[in-house]
Amino acid sequence: MSTIAVLSGDGIGPEVVQCAVRVLREVRLDVECVEALVGGAALRAGKPPLPDDTRALCDRSAAILFGAVGLPEYDSKPLAERPEKALFSLRHDYELYANIRPVRVFPGLEGSSSLLPSLVQGLDLIVVRELTGGIYFGQPKERRTAADGIEEAVDTMFYRAPEIERIARVAFEFAQQRRRHVTSVDKQNILETSGLWRQVVEQTAQSFPAVSVTHLLVDNAAMQLIRRPAQFDVILTENMFGDILSDEAAMLTGSIGNLPSASLGTRGNGNRRFGMYEPISGTAPDIAGKGIANPTAAILSAALLLRYSLDDEPAARRVEQAVESAFRSGARTADLARGGARALNTTEFTDVVVARLPR
Ligand code: IPM
Ligand code: MG
Repeated sequence: MSTIAVLSGDGIGPEVVQCAVRVLREVRLDVECVEALVGGAALRAGKPPLPDDTRALCDRSAAILFGAVGLPEYDSKPLAERPEKALFSLRHDYELYANIRPVRVFPGLEGSSSLLPSLVQGLDLIVVRELTGGIYFGQPKERRTAADGIEEAVDTMFYRAPEIERIARVAFEFAQQRRRHVTSVDKQNILETSGLWRQVVEQTAQSFPAVSVTHLLVDNAAMQLIRRPAQFDVILTENMFGDILSDEAAMLTGSIGNLPSASLGTRGNGNRRFGMYEPISGTAPDIAGKGIANPTAAILSAALLLRYSLDDEPAARRVEQAVESAFRSGARTADLARGGARALNTTEFTDVVVARLPR
């Protein structure tokens, strides 16, 4: 038995994670999915964003299946009292430094993209985002009142060379298995951290002679992603740039509701790495509770969990093929339906996926 910690959190989190759990149970009889509170759901129950028993569950689990965190009612609180704190604690405490975001345009979905179908057809890239450093974690990080009585705030972008090297290795290793090209994104013309980033990426590249590297400034990368996205294979970038670029890349697939992610760290061994798996879409407060959210990202996150934490490539493929087949059959949730096509709700779409799981 492998234990999976299921932390569905807030907004559409519970609606979509439930679908992922259902698919996971279809393909693996030997996983035990245990739910626990996180984020706003924990705060509302009078607990901290990441309660001790939730952490204890994660400690004894093979992986975490995560939904989303964030509730408007906590937006004005300091970070430590906001639902998002849970996400940052999990990433930090389990050293989940490598965030993998595969961006694929499934056949049939070209027409749902915000770009011309000809630009996105067959698109297949991955964003490798550094997840435990940079401006989201650097110190000092605070709001304060200065000596002259003026309110001010500071965030710090900070990287040490080994943090860059380990994430660069992840990107090069992925590229080796793919089309062997890494695009490293930075802001080297203005940021010191980017100067170090570029230098370490170049050094790391020496160990991967079969992989070519291009460096792009982040503003240019944002432009290239919508100009000619097919030029990308693996995009390697620091925390905040990766956060922004991956949302942008998600829209190429038609909806942010399509994009799964895996956050991997140092725990675990070989092909059974501990990881956290989550849709990148967030809580989507505008549609939460309506039962219409697209569960694709959550279901594909379960596939990544099977691949990286349970070392079960065949099951991962089955899930991905079922999703692909569902789209081919014309199944669409509201975010993807175009031209008056009837949209399936969250459960109906999952029914189609489950029915199409290869036996
Ligand atoms: C993501 C999200 C998070 C982040 C938020 C919810 C804190 O946008 O995983 O991309 O910024 O990392
Ligand atoms: Mg984000």
